[in-house]
Amino acid sequence: MKNYLSELDLDVEETMALLFRAKQLKAQRGEPRSELAGRHVALYFEKPSVRTRVSFTVAVHELGGQVIELGPSNTKVGKGEDERDFAKVIGRYVHGLVARVFSQDKLQSMAAYAGVPVINALSDERHPCQALADVLTIQERKGELRGLRFAFVGEGNNVATSTGLLLAALGAQVRVASPAGYGLPPAVLDQAQGLAGTLTQVEDPVAAVRAADVVYTDTWISMGQEAEAEARRQIFGRYRVDQDLMRHADDEAIVMHCLPAVRGEEIDGELMYEERSALWDQAENRLHVQKALLLELLAG
Ligand code: CP
Ligand code: NVA
Repeated sequence: MKNYLSELDLDVEETMALLFRAKQLKAQRGEPRSELAGRHVALYFEKPSVRTRVSFTVAVHELGGQVIELGPSNTKVGKGEDERDFAKVIGRYVHGLVARVFSQDKLQSMAAYAGVPVINALSDERHPCQALADVLTIQERKGELRGLRFAFVGEGNNVATSTGLLLAALGAQVRVASPAGYGLPPAVLDQAQGLAGTLTQVEDPVAAVRAADVVYTDTWISMGQEAEAEARRQIFGRYRVDQDLMRHADDEAIVMHCLPAVRGEEIDGELMYEERSALWDQAENRLHVQKALLLELLAG
């Protein structure tokens, strides 16, 4: 039984096969499928979500399965029931658990007790399903991943970690630009050693973006950081993807963002709608990669 808690839980070969399957599923959308007939998937969300919640729900339904939604308002996880007990019970009912939680440790603890595959729907540290959709989108727009110059501008937390590590595993040259103290954790940089590509932390956004094929950003204020909003707006002020910054990228560079975006903060609103914006494809591709992931972990 496999889980998908981090982007490197599938090796390079498995990831490439999953992406190939996702492309087939995308092309075949609308054809009836029944691989998850008779199977139930629980979605447990401790934080808000549009894309992840809706794309997983539609993915399970389109594969013939059923979804049960759970969260803090209708469970007592962390407020009287330990997550291990919750996971152990849920695993007796359903065939898979998709969970968005604050702490990666809590997710790992759920996975240790669930007895069914657990999929990370975002934690403070990782967002591996986003990484799969990002890589599929880059393949569609740019083709080859080996040697691709990928710049991330913003905090080195969940999205930068997962998309950065997955791309580095697939041979890309990843540069992450963050203010001092807000970069990738040292353990993530260590993890990148020995991968086919590279993962480098810098402070200067221009240095990261120079000649890049892809420029990616994420919110300055992640879910759970709302109390620090004002301080973060000061600290991240120059980490904005706008026309000025894009002038340093390759002429054919594309712009990416996991969404939700705060226009005028980390991204210029107009850029989101230009031809070079891949934002909407990224969001759509969540559906296709997660279908492929559900088939890999739950079907058969
Ligand atoms: N990108 C992403 O995970 O979006 P949601 O928070 O809306 O699920
Ligand atoms: N870093 C963001 C990603 C949202 C998909 C957050 O954690 O809120």
